[in-house]
Formats: sequence, C-alpha cells, structure tokens
Amino acid sequence: MADITVTEHLLLHQKRTPQATGQFTGLLYDLILSGKSIARRINKAGLLDILGGTGEVNVQGEDVQKMDTIANRIMIYRMERCGALCAMSSEEEADLIRVGPEFPRGDYILIFDPLDGSSNIDINVDVGTIFSILRRPAGEKGEVRIEDVLQPGYQQVGAGYILYGPSTMLVLSTGQGVHGFTLDPGVGEFLLSHPDMKIPEQGYIFSVNEGYSRYWDDAAKEAVNWFHTTESFDGKPYSARYVGALVADFHRTLLRGGIYMYPAEKRKPEGKLRLMCEANPLAFLAEQAGGKASDGKTRILDKLPNKLHARTPLFIGSKKDVEAVERIYAKYEKA
Ligand code: AHG
Ligand code: MN
Ligand code: MN
Repeated sequence: MADITVTEHLLLHQKRTPQATGQFTGLLYDLILSGKSIARRINKAGLLDILGGTGEVNVQGEDVQKMDTIANRIMIYRMERCGALCAMSSEEEADLIRVGPEFPRGDYILIFDPLDGSSNIDINVDVGTIFSILRRPAGEKGEVRIEDVLQPGYQQVGAGYILYGPSTMLVLSTGQGVHGFTLDPGVGEFLLSHPDMKIPEQGYIFSVNEGYSRYWDDAAKEAVNWFHTTESFDGKPYSARYVGALVADFHRTLLRGGIYMYPAEKRKPEGKLRLMCEANPLAFLAEQAGGKASDGKTRILDKLPNKLHARTPLFIGSKKDVEAVERIYAKYEKA
C-alpha cells in the first residue's frame, strides 16, 4: 500500500469540505509540528535532565512536571504564530491566551492539555497531548471574549490527540470519522495507519481508579460493579485496565472497546477531568467512531462549560457499555 502522509490526507479532505479552508489545514499542520517537537523531547527525557517536578503547583492544584512546562511552551510558541488562531486555552494556564496583535490572527480557538498523564513520564509510560478546535462565533471581531470560547463540545470542528507511546500516534477527527497516523521517525512524517477507526459496539475491558470507590455515590458504585458481574459480557466479568493517563486509557478503549470511567466523588463533586481540554475532544472522537460519552446523565458534547477549567464526570467508550451506565444513573435519578 502506498504511504499516505497526514498532509496528503488533510488535503484530500480539504477538497471535500467547505469548512476546511487553508487556514484550518495550516492550523493542523502546526499542531502536528508541535507534537513532533514534544515527541522528540519526550524520547530523550531521561537523557536531558527534564524528568521530575518543577516544585510548582498548577491552576488545577496539581504538581507541575518539567515536561508539562516544556510541552506547554512548545504548544504556545508554535500555535500563536500559526496564523489560524484568535485564542488558546491550556490546562496549564489559568487565563485565556489571546493571540495578537504581534502575530497574525485567524478564526479558530485551540484548547489543549499539553501533556496528559504527566505523572507517568518519570516511569516511561504513555503520555499524550489532547486538543480541541472551535471556531470563533461568526461576526465576532476585536478582542476574544471568554463567552466566545465557552462553547458546548458539539460545536468542535476538530479534535484529537498525539500519543507518545512505543510509537508516536496522531488520532484525529475533523467530523468525518476518526483516522490514526503513526509517526515514522526516519522520515519525520505521520503516515495513515488506522483509517476510519470504529469503537466496537460493546467491549470487554473497564477502566477506572477503583482505589477511590469509597468517595463514590451509590450510582457510581453500582455502575462500576456492573462490569464485575457476569451479566455484563458474554457471561464473563470484564477485564480491568488502568494506565492512569486518560489519553492512553482512551486509546485502548478506541481500539479494543469497553469503557473508561472517572465518576464524580464526594470530595470532587464535578469529577477530576477537564471538560474542555480532556472530555470534549475525546467525546468528539468517541462519537465519530460510533461510541458514546456521557457524565452519567448528560451527553458530554451537550454540556455548556461555565468556565475555562470546568470539570466533568466521564463515562466514555463502547455504545452499549456507556448506555449500561446511563441506565443505572437514570434509576437513581428517579428514586
Ligand atoms: P494531567 O496529567 O493532564 O493532569 O491529567 C491526569 C488525569 C488523566 O490523565 C488521568 O486519567 C487521571 O488524571 C488519573 O487520575 P487518578 O490518578 O486520580 O486516577
Ligand atoms: Mn490531562
Ligand atoms: Mn496535563
């Protein structure tokens, strides 16, 4: 099979969608370049004294790893120069980053988690960059307002992630299915390796941090317990897997099916994961691949964020598995 590069793939799609202007393709091109730069640093992290923490705590109240800061800087530096963006929001930055006037501005807004799963970096386990692309509401000019950015996830025009694993992979959707590309480090190009990815309708793996079950409410306990029962899949209980890096746990779920869960907790009533930079982009991919994403009651992509760093409980993966959780939550809603 002839190798199809990601650029070639984007150009082919550009012809078919009026929404994919040159600006949008340029944005993706620079995102991919940022991903390659981050991958290069991560590959050498053990050699460059860039492992470990910075000693700081970020806006989310979490320890900042040196690689978090490096990935964040690479993304901001490259993307504010790409010409397609008017604003950005990073998991590592408290405020909205407005582009310009020193750089050319465009119509898009980029929301990203520069390094997801960063506590895994010191143990040489998978991490990734997750991104969500929104368009600025039509007719809005001048300084970007925070309300222009707080859009529900169904309005995303593109989303994806770059997974820094045994190989580096880009998984991307611009609303026409989900496509996976693997980085060929020899030529420095992402090549199409997983065209038109689909999540199995039902899986056999569940993924959740069960160590925190004492903080869950009864609905969450029953939902997780469902996957222990033999009613759930073919008379057998589900298998458990938890990397602790959402991007890696989601990637497995996309390929193998099953469900990833991060329920609300008594100490974290909104859950841990960030709606705009984690849940929304992965929910967009899940739906584009035929799966589902829910907070137990509401479709993730319908949720209106009330702030940049809003959080949400998350149940994501195979359609039937997410529906099983929603049925349990609905039962508790009625009671
Ligand atoms: P980040 O490294 O971007 O802060 O995200 C960490 C998130 C997510 O990747 C992962 O699934 C989750 O935290 C794990 O949390 P627990 O350690 O609470 O299970
Ligand atoms: Mn994260
Ligand atoms: Mn992060």
